[in-house]
Amino acid sequence: MKLNKQDILKALETISAPGEGQNMVESGAVTNVITFGDEVVVDITITNPSLQAKKKTEVEILQTIHKLVYEKAKIKVNVKVEAPTKSAPNVIKGKNIPGIQNIVAIASGKGGVGKSTVTANIAVTLAKMGFKVGILDADIYGPSIPIMFDVVNEKPLAVNVEGKSKMKPVENYGVKVLSIGFFTKPDQAVVWRGPMAAKALNQMIFDAAWGELDFLLLDLPPGTGDIHLSIMQSLPITGAVVVSTPQNVALADAKKGVAMFQQESISVPVLGIVENMAYFTPAELPENKYYIFGKQGAKNLAEDLKVPFLGELPLVQSIREAGDVGHPAALQTATPLEQEFEKITQNMVQEVVKRNDNLPPTEAIKITTMAGCSAVKK
Ligand SMILES: Nc1ncnc2c1ncn2[C@@H]1O[C@H](COP(=O)(O)OP(=O)(O)O)[C@@H](O)[C@H]1O
Ligand SMILES: [Mg+2]
Repeated sequence: MKLNKQDILKALETISAPGEGQNMVESGAVTNVITFGDEVVVDITITNPSLQAKKKTEVEILQTIHKLVYEKAKIKVNVKVEAPTKSAPNVIKGKNIPGIQNIVAIASGKGGVGKSTVTANIAVTLAKMGFKVGILDADIYGPSIPIMFDVVNEKPLAVNVEGKSKMKPVENYGVKVLSIGFFTKPDQAVVWRGPMAAKALNQMIFDAAWGELDFLLLDLPPGTGDIHLSIMQSLPITGAVVVSTPQNVALADAKKGVAMFQQESISVPVLGIVENMAYFTPAELPENKYYIFGKQGAKNLAEDLKVPFLGELPLVQSIREAGDVGHPAALQTATPLEQEFEKITQNMVQEVVKRNDNLPPTEAIKITTMAGCSAVKK
């Protein structure tokens, strides 16, 4: 039996692509088909990184070709996972951010709820899924990403990119990292105003050699003050993830966080809420769950605010220890924690896909400079 490409494509046209009512061929998901005799190789590109999504697509292709073309065809499906891209390039003060597809801000109203822990673990999980990932640690009050990635004593080097000196992010576990902590002395209380912080972050984006990134995660300082306003308005942020514990005081602040992103002058889509320290599980009694900070508070908040709930993480010693030794817990394979982090990360990626399909890119508003103020006064 000699298979031909046209018959295969016709068969694949009967498989629908997610969204837009297109089929898999029209949507561009099928990137190549090669046939030799009774063998066929199908290359496809999907944006959903979950194992189930890959498997499901593969099975659909096998079944369809077997049913519609030749029941004994030998089929190989190559699945490539690609980051969701914006329909239009990032825009910032008329400039593009070359190579950076999605900037995701990780925020919390309250400090100490696990924002940096969640950022670090989502980052390594994205890297494991094959995405190109960077973290920009913007927490001027307590930059902790260098510790969590075991790169405290490293310094970003200067490299020459097309005749310009740029900062080269430090890299570990497949994640590129720049932190405000690399540029301030430890234990030095940094008293920065919003525009200063925004300017420093702008430099760490535009004067840094990030290369190609599917996701740049921004570990924001806690709170909802003017620093956030400046940062948010000066960067084209794709979406925000809000981290909260189930405790009432944290929830009240998380609510303010969501409101901040949704206010008109910021308009950053909220990708969802992560509930951290959802319950305590002792290592020796993994079935026992103790709801120390209250039960499902963040989940309920997500429902109330009509924003997606991305998932929950237990309060366990291993997460804290992993953070302290600079080896994020999600790197440990075949553990329940790895699965929790995968679930949360997949949900986040799916929300980014939805967001990029449905909304135009977030535009940055230029930073209010002192010069700008006096110009307005005149
Ligand atoms: N799920 C968790 N289980 C155990 N310890 C946690 C968990 N999440 C965070 N921690 C610990 O709590 C402390 C604060 O977390 P961190 O991520 O630094 O919070 P934030 O960035 O919001 O200030 C850290 O010592 C961290 O290791
Ligand atoms: Mg932190």
